[in-house]
Amino acid sequence: MDDIWTLVRFLHVLAATMWVGGMLFLGLVAVPVALKNPDPAERRSLITAVAKRFGYFGAVAWVMLLVTGFGLIDHRGLSLADLPDTGYGRRILAKIVLLILVGVIAVLHGMWQGPRVRRAEAAGDERATRRWKAAGGIMDAMMLIGSLAALWLAVSLIA
Ligand code: HEM
Repeated sequence: MDDIWTLVRFLHVLAATMWVGGMLFLGLVAVPVALKNPDPAERRSLITAVAKRFGYFGAVAWVMLLVTGFGLIDHRGLSLADLPDTGYGRRILAKIVLLILVGVIAVLHGMWQGPRVRRAEAAGDERATRRWKAAGGIMDAMMLIGSLAALWLAVSLIA
């Protein structure tokens, strides 16, 4: 039956689609299209603008996942301390850890690695640009794998 918890679960799944779908859209559509631009400065500013804009929505989705997730735990009559006791709880615990890890990587990506790529590019330092871009690629892969793993855990919560 539809009730307030249907809305909370809806917002939880909506946030998951924003988070995972946004990452896939960025990697599969926005960045490849931007890379077709022959002008390096235009390419960079387009990718930065798209990533920044997604950063806001990603942050909203991250908070929404956590808040609605804790609401759903409470709705199941559980607390954080109960989670290690059951398979269901351990999967949720793993999702919380993954979400926090992915969030930390996203912040490092936006505030530490990203600005260094831009700085190295502006200075014309090709070696540093390659190195920081490679670090960004590793971070992207970790965020995608972590988010897909969380999604897998989510859909396997209930048989
Ligand atoms: C990237 C991270 C996450 C993703 C992609 C995600 C995705 C989902 C999805 C798709 C469902 C629906 C599963 C179904 O009904 O079959 C779900 C359920 C659930 N999620 Fe998450 N989630 C994430 C993080 C979290 C976090 C951080 C928490 C806890 C704070 C949480 C708590 C829950 C709970 C308790 C349910 C089950 C609701 C129920 O038993 O009816 N999730 N999640």
